[in-house]
Amino acid sequence: MEFLVLKDSKEVAVKAADIIEEIMRSKNEKGEEIYLGLATGSSPLKLYEELIRRHREEGLDFSNVTTVNLDEYVGLSESHSQSYRYYMRENLFNEIEIPINKVYLPKGNADNPEEEARRYEKLVDELPVRDIQILGIGVNGHIAFNEPENPLSSVTHVVNLTKETVEANSRFFNNVDEVPKTAITMGLKQIFRSKHIVLIATGNTKSEVVSKFMDNYITTDNPSSFLKLHPKVTIITDEKAGKGLKVND
Ligand code: GLP
Repeated sequence: MEFLVLKDSKEVAVKAADIIEEIMRSKNEKGEEIYLGLATGSSPLKLYEELIRRHREEGLDFSNVTTVNLDEYVGLSESHSQSYRYYMRENLFNEIEIPINKVYLPKGNADNPEEEARRYEKLVDELPVRDIQILGIGVNGHIAFNEPENPLSSVTHVVNLTKETVEANSRFFNNVDEVPKTAITMGLKQIFRSKHIVLIATGNTKSEVVSKFMDNYITTDNPSSFLKLHPKVTIITDEKAGKGLKVND
């Protein structure tokens, strides 16, 4: 596992964009399709801004890109301003001119969420291994919406969000009651089906959970701890989130 502790969230975004750009340029040269695993939440916002800037100003070409998202709230339609599909459209897809048939997310308003989870698992399974998977991390150690629980489901599933997550995400809604209490999330099996996992964490609220990467334990109480088992993980933090890592000394 590689740790990079950078000055601030802007530097974190630039570094993550560099990693994505490198793989995109090399595959674009060969005319190969690029599979990007994408995340939502506040952590990747500056990264998406940077990718859009490079697309507009430097010609970073997204025409060979297919994107696969991690999760979606149950019950929110794609026109709901807090659905993850809406978020992706607003914060990335509309700006990089990616065709709608090359972006994948679970359907939040599917009639049968359990069935939708199975459909998404199969769909992602049939896609090639992603070149990069971008991840944020919840303050409770969740990745995507894999909440601390025992047992953890390995495959795409419907999850009951913890009180902590509902409260943390209520900042995006008018009030806590509006936050969906369930979501469809990829399990660790699909998250691991990526050649390179890049986890972004910024701000003081993430320092405690980030410092837990320094212990040697893997536990379902902290789903992110399983990342220690993946062969290529880069954790990029700003100084605030990375203060417990002390890796640049
Ligand atoms: C959300 C998402 C995760 C995200 C995490 C952290 O609920 N499901 O994919 O990484 O929680 O969010 P943020 O980046 O806003 O701190």
